[in-house]
Amino acid sequence: MNILITGGAGFIGSHLADRLIQSGKNVIIIDNLVTGLKENVNKSAIFYKMDVRSLNLKKIFQNHEIDTVFHFAAQIDIRKSLSEIEYEIDVNVKGSVNLIVNAAKYGAKEIYFASTGGAVYGDQLEYPASEDHPIEPLSPYGIDKFTIEKYLACFKKIYNFKYSVFRFSNVYGPRQNPQSEAGVVSIFVHRMLKDKKINIYGDGNQTRDFIYVSDAVDAMMKIFETKKHGTYNVCTQTETSVNEIFKVLAPELHYERVPIMLELRPGELLRSCLSYKKIGKAVNWKPSVDIKRGLKKTADWYRENFK
Ligand SMILES: NC(=O)c1ccc[n+]([C@@H]2O[C@H](COP(=O)([O-])OP(=O)(O)OC[C@H]3O[C@@H](n4cnc5c(N)ncnc54)[C@H](O)[C@@H]3O)[C@@H](O)[C@H]2O)c1
Repeated sequence: MNILITGGAGFIGSHLADRLIQSGKNVIIIDNLVTGLKENVNKSAIFYKMDVRSLNLKKIFQNHEIDTVFHFAAQIDIRKSLSEIEYEIDVNVKGSVNLIVNAAKYGAKEIYFASTGGAVYGDQLEYPASEDHPIEPLSPYGIDKFTIEKYLACFKKIYNFKYSVFRFSNVYGPRQNPQSEAGVVSIFVHRMLKDKKINIYGDGNQTRDFIYVSDAVDAMMKIFETKKHGTYNVCTQTETSVNEIFKVLAPELHYERVPIMLELRPGELLRSCLSYKKIGKAVNWKPSVDIKRGLKKTADWYRENFK
């Protein structure tokens, strides 16, 4: 069985690749390394430096019989999705469609897509939000992620494949790139380790649903192993504020500066919290790493590996 992972040199994709390889699977990774790192690529994976928009993508499918695709490659910066909208659409819509069409044409049986909870639901009407929450994206990034969910639903009827969608909350942990706007934990960790100033926008009481990366990988593996395909939130159902993140990380990383409080940026969600009831019921999954332990594990890893 050959599994293709796009974005496998990035944060979540590289952790999933490690886990699939550990369980004996053959993994092929494509990544253009725009934010990902070659050193994140598992040594047992076959790696191609390639863009998901490439016309050469079909060669990957021609040369390796791919049964399963996990699609993580994306432009992941919500702010950039507004300021560089053509690039956003190019990568997140056209690149994803290029991938899905090639996968389907060359006989892939399963596609797993990394979508987003916070960005597709928009300002929540209920807490925690279930998968049935109205879809009201507040950014091109959210619109494009949902667009690909719809392409999958449409192409599934034309081609013969099954698919699952993972609507992640805020995933954090080792290897996360601090360039991403979503990665407040990673931004704080990197700035604390370099003893640089840290900005907090608004009063810092805005909340997110932070999930440790190994829990997100466990959830994906459960769906992959049981084949209970569907659209699932992958989250912790727990709200943590930006101030709380700062308070836990600062002593861990011996950071003594006081954060600089700036005005809330327009369009920023004040609260985000998703329900994992659906995936919990489907495959008996629940997160196992609470925020304090996850932040400590993250800080420990960066202290060891920070260059
Ligand atoms: N991290 C989160 O909190 C979060 C939350 C919701 C959804 N997601 C989604 O999960 C996926 C993985 O996110 P991540 O946090 O690991 O980000 P990441 O930036 O670490 O990983 C994305 C990878 O895709 C690669 N890539 C980008 N554009 C590409 C292109 N055109 N062709 C080939 N490769 C390309 C990058 O080099 C990188 O290695 C993304 O689709 C993201 O939208 C992440």
